[in-house]
Amino acid sequence: MKVMAFNGSPRKKWNTATLLEKALEGAASQGAETELIHLYGLNFKGCISCFACKTRGGKSYGRCAVEDDLIPVFRDIEKADAIILGSPIYFGTVSGEMKSFMERLLFPYSTYTDPPQSLLPRKIKTGFIYTMNVPEELMKELGYIQHFKRHEMTLQRICGASEYMCSFDTYQFDDYSKVVADRFDPEKKALRRKEVFPEDCEKAFEMGVRFANIGK
Ligand SMILES: Cc1cc2nc3c(=O)[nH]c(=O)nc-3n(C[C@H](O)[C@H](O)[C@H](O)COP(=O)(O)O)c2cc1C
Repeated sequence: MKVMAFNGSPRKKWNTATLLEKALEGAASQGAETELIHLYGLNFKGCISCFACKTRGGKSYGRCAVEDDLIPVFRDIEKADAIILGSPIYFGTVSGEMKSFMERLLFPYSTYTDPPQSLLPRKIKTGFIYTMNVPEELMKELGYIQHFKRHEMTLQRICGASEYMCSFDTYQFDDYSKVVADRFDPEKKALRRKEVFPEDCEKAFEMGVRFANIGK
């Protein structure tokens, strides 16, 4: 059993990375092998629309033909049992690196046949962890949920079962007094970090536990 996680934040030790680490700790607690990959540490771009992955009889049918740091990662994903994507919300969607990663990972496996099919060699359970500055009510008002549901549907169609969790109202800076951010109350932020973030970490841990127990 192998569970891989992908950090779509440029920060290697902050909210998103911490929750992904907790999820992997949960998986490891059940005996799974785990790996965390920081997308910002890899050299790659988004889909270049070459359609080599869709070319009839082509040697790259169902595979991404762009040769960069993602190719060995895709081969590892095909051998994994579960993957967990994690991203901060940037302007209402996932970070640029996460978006590019999803395009490159998912498009080659998704056929243009009618009905569409998945060319992923075997089912992989998928999870998504989103972290964001807004509180839950504002997240709903802004329509982020539709976005998360759409990712969930795409991942279900291409990879298999999928689930997601959110961490709201995250702590963004080391020291709120050093940044111009009057909109936020540093004390409330610190309190939430102390009291609610650990609960989010627990939810992430439980996700990892569930993922490691698929098929047991
Ligand atoms: C470029 C940028 C854009 C952001 N846009 C949003 C946004 O649209 N909505 C939101 O709730 N938070 C937004 N945030 C806040 C981050 O999503 C939030 O702080 C997140 O938890 C950061 O994750 P990290 O600590 O793992 O880097 C933005 C942050 C940055 C740097």
